[in-house]
Amino acid sequence: MKFKDEVNHRKTFAIISHPDAGKTTLTEKFLLFGGAIQTAGAVKSNKIKKTAASDFMEIERQRGISVATSVMSFEYKDLLINLLDTPGHKDFAEDTYRTLTAVDSVILVVDSVNGVEEQTKRLTEVCRMRDTPIIVFVNKMDLEGRDPFDLLDELEEHLKINVRPLSWPINKGKTFKGVYNLHGKSLNLFEANKTKVADEVMSFKDLNDAKLDELIGNDADQLREDVELIEGVYEPLDKEAYLKGQVAPVFFGSAVNNFGVQELLDTFVELAPTPLPRPSNKGLIDPYHNKFSGFIFKIHANLDPNHRDRIAFLRVCSGEFERNKFFHHTRLDKQIRFNNPYSFLAREKSVIEHAYPGDVIGLYDTGNFKIGDTLTEGEDFTFQGIPSFSPEIFREVINKDPMKSKQLDKGVRQLTDEGVAQLFIQQPGSKKIIGTVGELQFEVIKYRLNEEYGASCELQPKAFHKACWITTTDEEQLQEFLRLKATEVAFDKDDNPVFLAPSAWMLQMAEQNYPALTFHSTSEFKTKATAD
Ligand code: G4P
Repeated sequence: MKFKDEVNHRKTFAIISHPDAGKTTLTEKFLLFGGAIQTAGAVKSNKIKKTAASDFMEIERQRGISVATSVMSFEYKDLLINLLDTPGHKDFAEDTYRTLTAVDSVILVVDSVNGVEEQTKRLTEVCRMRDTPIIVFVNKMDLEGRDPFDLLDELEEHLKINVRPLSWPINKGKTFKGVYNLHGKSLNLFEANKTKVADEVMSFKDLNDAKLDELIGNDADQLREDVELIEGVYEPLDKEAYLKGQVAPVFFGSAVNNFGVQELLDTFVELAPTPLPRPSNKGLIDPYHNKFSGFIFKIHANLDPNHRDRIAFLRVCSGEFERNKFFHHTRLDKQIRFNNPYSFLAREKSVIEHAYPGDVIGLYDTGNFKIGDTLTEGEDFTFQGIPSFSPEIFREVINKDPMKSKQLDKGVRQLTDEGVAQLFIQQPGSKKIIGTVGELQFEVIKYRLNEEYGASCELQPKAFHKACWITTTDEEQLQEFLRLKATEVAFDKDDNPVFLAPSAWMLQMAEQNYPALTFHSTSEFKTKATAD
């Protein structure tokens, strides 16, 4: 296949949802369609969300499993689909955010009973930051959920995105009869069945066809009314607007019953973008650019403590990746080659010779990589827009064993390079403050520092409200702020100043008193600064 066809042959996406909305179930159905798995239940293992917060061994076990499910590649309709897994547990939200930098579109699963939930909002916000195209799947229509029109309004209101239903449910819960495909003008009647593979659809070019009344009885008139209303209220789907992340097509179905899933997948392969350009400090890098480039968006530690190597996940952004060829690590200004890069086709880890834009490959790493690193074929640029988010929980690392301070330093650096948490250094005394978005990370950090680095520490709670990166063009005002607020200022790993705001009110006051300073809640400002 020619290089250009290789690029056009790929679609890389993630399924995102609030925990329990049905992401795992939908993933599994997709894999069944793609022939990547043969039996239902095969994906169920990545249920870290259901484990107790302090169950370290379970966390460790899950870490191992989730390497295998990090990327699930399968072929469907002559396309190579790369489905990137995102952790369900909210404490691992940062991992999810970063994974979203490596995809070109997402499918958002919403529970028809619970509607838009907290994680749904946060995840969509992240998608909106980079205008990632979104398709919505309203799941669990077999349950007594919310009214579909109300759900559409809720989606628009909370996700701040326009929606366009492409299918429409006929009733819900016990009386759920199926969905009408507004785009294909066909009817798909519901049957509760967890094992069937394909949906059988009936074409209905004219909704006034009396056969519709025979099939769904009194619900036929309601459907006619609903469809008329939808066609009157919602503009036809504008594909360009979808690709710009401005309008989200919506489907209704039931993942566990494999109902409405094929429709969703078929529309996804038709609409979703092929690999998109990625922002760098030297402008957009086009996937068709003939020189290889990619970035690291996730790092996984090895499960076996005797092997300190890690697996770095790289998204190929342009050109062709080749095994055993030297590539340029731009941060370290170093040439590196990889003997055993692997891919994840059909959920099997296998060594690959080549990879193309849109692919995600696993690279064995002995400590060269940190999240956000760029590899190129000799060119000198750095990918941008792999953000850190303002952490909300803070602990100071207190060394409990002075003989092991080197190990502790190394451990903290490496774990934060992996993106487990963020490290801030505060003066005087180079105090290490770790910030996370969830409590679970502290358990992981303590456990891993001990197991992998032989270091023991105490993590002392710090009552900060939020860490905000500071930028300004007024150097004098910045220096004054840094001096007066020394106890609430720290520096991140790249030496950017950060305000550890003690409360929301103090943050507001700082904004008022120092008008020349900008306080950012994500490190994304770095990208913006270059784009300007
Ligand atoms: P998640 O990955 O988003 O966290 O959700 P997951 O797929 O694990 O689904 C959460 C629960 O919702 C599961 O039930 C799953 O079976 C159920 N579910 C998924 N899709 C549907 C649907 O269309 N209708 C109904 N009624 N339920 C659905 P569980 O009891 O937590 O697990 P399990 O014992 O069924 O595996």
